[in-house]
Amino acid sequence: MSAYFLLRNLSRTSRSIMSSLTVPLNDGTQIPWLGFGTGTALFSKDAENAVLTAIASGVAHLDGAQSYGNEDSLGAAIVGSGKPRSSLYVVTKLNTVPAGQTVRDTLVTSLKKLRVDYVDLFLIHSPKNHEGKLSAVWKEVEALQKEGLAKSIGVSNFRIQDLEEILGNASVVPAVNQIEYHPYVLKASQPLLEYAKSKNILITSYGGLTPIARFPGGPIDSVLSSIAARVSETAGQTVNQGQVLQLWLRAQNIPAISTSSKESRIKEYLATETLPGLTADEVQAINEAGSKTHHRVFQKWLDD
Ligand SMILES: NC(=O)c1ccc[n+]([C@@H]2O[C@H](COP(=O)([O-])OP(=O)(O)OC[C@H]3O[C@@H](n4cnc5c(N)ncnc54)[C@H](OP(=O)(O)O)[C@@H]3O)[C@@H](O)[C@H]2O)c1
Repeated sequence: MSAYFLLRNLSRTSRSIMSSLTVPLNDGTQIPWLGFGTGTALFSKDAENAVLTAIASGVAHLDGAQSYGNEDSLGAAIVGSGKPRSSLYVVTKLNTVPAGQTVRDTLVTSLKKLRVDYVDLFLIHSPKNHEGKLSAVWKEVEALQKEGLAKSIGVSNFRIQDLEEILGNASVVPAVNQIEYHPYVLKASQPLLEYAKSKNILITSYGGLTPIARFPGGPIDSVLSSIAARVSETAGQTVNQGQVLQLWLRAQNIPAISTSSKESRIKEYLATETLPGLTADEVQAINEAGSKTHHRVFQKWLDD
């Protein structure tokens, strides 16, 4: 992918808050490139303070889920931030649908907890939760977009066969497929990335810092360090390995859904939006080093 293409597809909006790098979706909306997640480290925990810190630091895109068990605390932070609803980008994800309920029932419950009238993006969290009914569940999700309860709709952890299953009967192509994506799953993810591109479905990344946060000492470390030194020199400021991993996502037009308990790190993530981009050779060096090993942290069934 050429540097020109990448730059052309990343744009800046006039959001009043600091996070301003966005990526276009197939439905004409824009998704902020950096998202702050309330799963993983915050799973089943009160996320209010962490999200308040993220919003105060300049994050707009908040990634929640019904299964994280903390949508109410995300809602408390949304309200507590004092930010206008339109300046935030709120995401939640469908869990299993309890017997006797509809997908709509679950989203209405989420909206109450989140204290918003609509979400910007509603995702089916996992195809595994809806085996045999995926296409019917997607039709229900489509209806929620039509009703205005979700501005954009998409999926998460979908394989090619899951996307094919819903596309056969879909009126709306998912805007997003949120997946674990970092250099240590690069090789395994390649066919899915190509398929998503052919259907105009944007891949977004969670777990993007895995190579340094969960598997330090791997083949990519020395490559990240030397690129960090080069970008630091160009930028005139210290750039670390995590920021290089996020620049690698940015270079592919892939939004980064991360999280942190530390304000300083959230600011580093945000600063990544304005750092100089990686060269094509640097992206290639990361790809080659990352492809030497494979580590998937979440949804390991995707490797079956
Ligand atoms: N759709 C799904 O199935 C799914 C699955 C997983 C996650 N997600 C979403 O994605 C969000 C982010 O996922 P993630 O936590 O896996 O993201 P990540 O960006 O890979 O990792 C973030 C974590 O890395 C730590 N970290 C950052 N820099 C580090 C460094 N230099 N050294 C060591 N640790 C470092 C942070 O800890 P500190 O607190 O110390 O900064 C933070 O807990 C989740 O909260 C959730 O919203 C979705």
